[in-house]
Amino acid sequence: MQIKNILVIGSGAMGSQIGMVAALAGFSTTVQDIAAESLAAARDQLAERMDNSVAKGRLGRADADAALARLRFTTSLEEGAAESDLVIEAATERLDVKRAIFAALDVAAPVHAILATNSSTLGSSKVAGATSRPGKVCNMHFFNPALVMKCVEVVRHPGTSQDTVDTVMELARQLGKAPVLINQEIPGFVANRLMGAIRDEALRLYADGFASFEDIDTAAKTALGHPMGPFELMDLVGLDVSYLIRQATHAETGDPADLPHPALAALYEHGHYGRKTGKGWYEYGRSATVAK
Ligand code: CAA
Repeated sequence: MQIKNILVIGSGAMGSQIGMVAALAGFSTTVQDIAAESLAAARDQLAERMDNSVAKGRLGRADADAALARLRFTTSLEEGAAESDLVIEAATERLDVKRAIFAALDVAAPVHAILATNSSTLGSSKVAGATSRPGKVCNMHFFNPALVMKCVEVVRHPGTSQDTVDTVMELARQLGKAPVLINQEIPGFVANRLMGAIRDEALRLYADGFASFEDIDTAAKTALGHPMGPFELMDLVGLDVSYLIRQATHAETGDPADLPHPALAALYEHGHYGRKTGKGWYEYGRSATVAK
């Protein structure tokens, strides 16, 4: 199946950058959000990012302008879905919200359209049942910042068709990404399980007083070659996201070891979500309210 038109649901950090990735790769792309102000902010931030890429010589002005022209913004899901071949849902990580979106997409999108979710915690089987096309539903999980990170986890649920898997894997390659296929909906998929193991150990080392979080970050970078330490990464991803992922994992497994670490919970409860609120483990100036 050939994909031409892509709809991204949600204009937060993930949705907006996924939309930009698709437009840069030549796809006619629409980003939909119920909040017009979020769409406006996304449009401005993406234009600024393209300006930076042009200024750094990474992208030609004409290519940047062409990509921005391929990117539309709308508050209407129906309008965005009408001619879509593939939808990537990157809305809030709430099952009720996602199920409502998938039910609406099932009505509004052409019958051939694939409906993917960017969810890192909810396997697509949880939303597939809200549609009449479960075989065309899967996870297509990007990483933050989506414009930069190469990995896309394609996760099939038991009813996802092979055709859907093949099409989404191929699309991810066309987007310039390196897709990995995950054959079963396991909590955290693969990358977040690896990241979680490091983060949990870092939280233990810090909470037990063995080292400061700054020094733990330094060790991760200078001894292991990680681009960011685990605490910096939590701030980038959002402490709210890390917290809610743990809650969701705990809800699925019932294992108390999967609950958010108390040090993470304390920051979450004070509304310190990382870069997006200006404070997490670290403090950020006004220019860092949107991750970098
Ligand atoms: N959005 C878009 N682009 C960004 C960006 C952002 N938030 N932050 C940096 N970049 C771009 C820069 O513009 C720059 O682009 P060019 O190469 O074209 O100039 C490039 O990334 C490198 O940036 P910098 O030189 O400023 O800084 P850096 O070398 O430290 O890289 C980083 C920044 C890419 C974020 C890097 O630190 C990194 O890879 N960090 C780890 C990120 C990571 O692990 N992400 C996964 C999170 S887990 C997740 O997302 C899954 C989930 O389910 C929660």
